[in-house]
Order: sequence, then C-alpha cells, then structure tokens
Amino acid sequence: MTGKRMWGGRFKGGPDSLLLRVNASIHFDQRMIDQDVLGSIAQARMLEKIAILSEGERAEIEAGLLLVLKRYHAGELALSEELEDVHTHVEHELSNHVDPQTAGRLHTGRSRNDQVALDVCMWLRDEVGVLRAALTSLIELLSSRATDWAEIPCVGLTHLQSAQPVTVGHHIMAYAVALTRDLERVQDLRRRIRFCPLGSGSLAGSPLPLDRAYVAEQLGFEGGPSLNSMDSVASRDLLVEACAVAAVAGLNLSRLAEDLILWASPAQGWITLPDECCTGSSLMPQKKNPDGLELVRGKSGRILGRLMGLATVLKGLPMSYNKDLQEDKEACFDALDTLQDMIALTQLSLAKAEIRADRCLAAVHADGFLMATDLADYLVLKKVPFRDAHHIVGTVVAHAEQKSVGLKDLSLDEYQNINPAFEADLFTWLDPERSIARRSTAGGPAPDAVRATATQLHELCAQSRRKIEAEHGPCPLLNELIQKKLWTGLDPVQGD
Ligand code: ARG
Repeated sequence: MTGKRMWGGRFKGGPDSLLLRVNASIHFDQRMIDQDVLGSIAQARMLEKIAILSEGERAEIEAGLLLVLKRYHAGELALSEELEDVHTHVEHELSNHVDPQTAGRLHTGRSRNDQVALDVCMWLRDEVGVLRAALTSLIELLSSRATDWAEIPCVGLTHLQSAQPVTVGHHIMAYAVALTRDLERVQDLRRRIRFCPLGSGSLAGSPLPLDRAYVAEQLGFEGGPSLNSMDSVASRDLLVEACAVAAVAGLNLSRLAEDLILWASPAQGWITLPDECCTGSSLMPQKKNPDGLELVRGKSGRILGRLMGLATVLKGLPMSYNKDLQEDKEACFDALDTLQDMIALTQLSLAKAEIRADRCLAAVHADGFLMATDLADYLVLKKVPFRDAHHIVGTVVAHAEQKSVGLKDLSLDEYQNINPAFEADLFTWLDPERSIARRSTAGGPAPDAVRATATQLHELCAQSRRKIEAEHGPCPLLNELIQKKLWTGLDPVQGD
C-alpha cells in the first residue's frame, strides 16, 4: 500500500490502523470530486502552457481525469482509507488509466494543501449559488403567502402578551423581510470567493514558472491568483463565514418555525399544517405533531454548533497548513446541508398551510384590551397630549378590568366620567379591522402596505435570480467541457 501514498519515500513502516482511520477524509471529501477533477484539468492545461507537459501528455491526463470522474459517479471507484482523501484517490486512479510517468507529472508545483484550498473554494462557490436560489424561493413563497393573508387580522404580541392587532400577512412578511438580509449576506460572501489558491504549493509557492493567472481565469476566479501563499493554504475564514451566515439564517427560520408551531397548537388554532410536514403519535391516536417545524427549530442549534466547532478549531492555529484544517469540511458541509433542509421543510410547511381566519378574528375580538393603544391615539387626535392620553386609557383599562369587561363594553358615560375628551365616535375606533387599515405607514400592517412590501420583495427576488445567473454560471473551463460534451461530473446546479 505504501506505493499508493503520495508521501511514502522517507518511511519504512506505514501508519497505525488507528491513524489510518482517523486521518482518512475520503468518506466526506469525495463530495468535492467534481471540483478536484476540474482543478486538476486546469492544472494540466497550465503545465502544458509552460511546457512541463506535452500536448499529448496533457490530453492523456485530461481524458484520464474525466474517466476517473465518470467511474466515480458510476460507483466503480474503490475507496480506501489508505488513500486518505479525494485528491489522492483521483491521482492514484489516474495512474491506473494513464502511463504512471505521465500521471506523475500532474502534481508538479502543487501540494494537497493548495489543492484542498482550491476544491473547498470551488465547492463553496457552487453551494453559495444553490443557497441563494433556495433563499430566494423561500422569500418569494413567504411574500406570496403574506399577500394571501394580508386581510386576516390577528393578535400581535410583544412579550408573548397581546399588544395590538396586526394581520397574519404582516406577521409572515416580517420573516420574508428578515430573510432578505440573509440572502444579502450570502450574496456578499460570493464576492470574497474570487481568489484562486492553486499555485501556492504547500505554503511557499513554487520556483517553477506556474501561470497562476491562467488557472484562475480558467476556473472563474475573477480576482485572479490569491495574494499570499501562506494565507491561501492556512485560511478557512470563508468557511466560518458560510457557517455564520447559515447560523443567522437558521435563527430566523427557527423563530418562524416556533411561531407556526404555536399557531398550530390547539390553544391557538390559527393555522392548519399540511399532513406532509406532520407525524402522528405511536400511542395517542388523535395526535398530529408539527415535527417538520420542530426539526427546523431544533436544527438551528446544530448549525450554531457547527459554527462554534469550526471557529474553535481555527482559534490560535499557527501558520500555515495544519491537519486540524481537515475538520473544516464536515462542519461546513453539514451546516449548509442542514440549512438547505430547514429551508425545504419551511417551504413544505408553508406552501399548503391553511389559515383559520375565523379563529384569528375571534381571538382579536375576544381580547378586551387589544385596542387600548388605538384609544390613546384617538385622544391624541382630540388634542390630548400622548402622555396624558396613555394615562387616561390606563385608567379606563383598570376600570374595565375591575368590571371584568373589555373596552367596547363600557358606556360613553363611563368613558366621559374618566375624561370628557371622549366622544361617541370613540366606538368606531375600537374596530380592529379599521385599526389595522389606519396603520398604513410604509412597513405597517395595513393590507396595502403589506402588498407594497410584497411588490418590493418580488423585484428583489427577480434581481437575485439575475445575479445568481451572472455569478454562478459554469466557469470557462467547465463551460468548454460541457459544450464539447466531455464533462463527466454532475450537472452544474444553480438550485431550483
Ligand atoms: N485531506 C486534507 C485536508 O482536508 C488535504 C490536505 C492534506 N495535506 C497534507 N499535507 N496532509 O486538509
């Protein structure tokens, strides 16, 4: 087996089976095989350009790499711990199809350290595209559900206590807007994935005349070659950032999930969730549990854990590459996969959820004091200073509470006894639907204001899709291989 390794020369014995097992990353880094092969083809073309490979050798390597990729996707590649990682597997398998002398030239001026940095960057860039598309569709869904429900009043809460009437649409729109910031953060991350690490070597560059700019251009790195060979192999801050962005988006989704879970609880009964996102109980026949949303809520903690885990690995890690860095991939893969699942589960739950408008409205009317703020605003319009108005309405509330009735159950006399500024028109101010319609300022709960936000978000989503197309298309090399029908990897994805 020693012969298969990339580093056997100076060793007499091989690593202990324990180390073999713990050191191996193939079971998770095989996920980057498309990126690895693409990077290697760019490397081979560059080596031809600088006359280290002949045209024939380059062509042989290129065909060999595409065959390895094809065999991998056909499930024909034997994976082994001895070969550690995806990079070694690809190179080893290449030497089974190509003259080993020729295959042996591919790694010229390259280390697995800059190779893995490249693969990870390319993988992240692809994943960011998928995530942008998923967030965009979720924002669109939330915004369209908000429009569907823009006229349905519900109790708005602060401190989990009744506060003021809003609409179900306004409440849902709050999450659509929060997610636009998550989308912006993911978009922003794309800009930083623009430097190509390949050509940095183990840490110290190369004495060979590598054409790094050519590689960067072929692989679609618009910033060109990375600016420091040590930083290139040592840094994983982009992955930390991806986990952080995912963690924040996860927090937003967990709060939406919690609200929907509460809405679906029998006590509230504002929403009926589709069967597709619920399960039953093995004991209690009547149960319909919102597991999908509970998992969204729970998995947000998992992403935070991944973020903390990765940040902790990096904390105080000396320059430059250290094997600790191999921990980056599972953390980031899992954080982003988890977020994708959370987005999909949220979509599944919301797309077919039905609002029980009668229950929402009944809750609004059952609450005797939901209109207290409106009453204070009413007094302000009667020229009472707001601070006085607040106090006067407080007195009204205390009076009604003592009688165990709500604001609309008091008589005009009782109101006027508390303050003469009250007049008969006060009762029209106690209608929750009118109250909502009155709060029509930009970003307010009035149906037209919610619809105006929806229009804005719709434009933002259309813009996001255009940007995804412009910033996540296949790189020049991949494009060429696809055009020539040579590409044997997965179709480049841009999400849904
Ligand atoms: N599997 C390794 C990783 O993920 C690749 C780099 C290995 N480099 C090395 N010098 N052992 O980081």
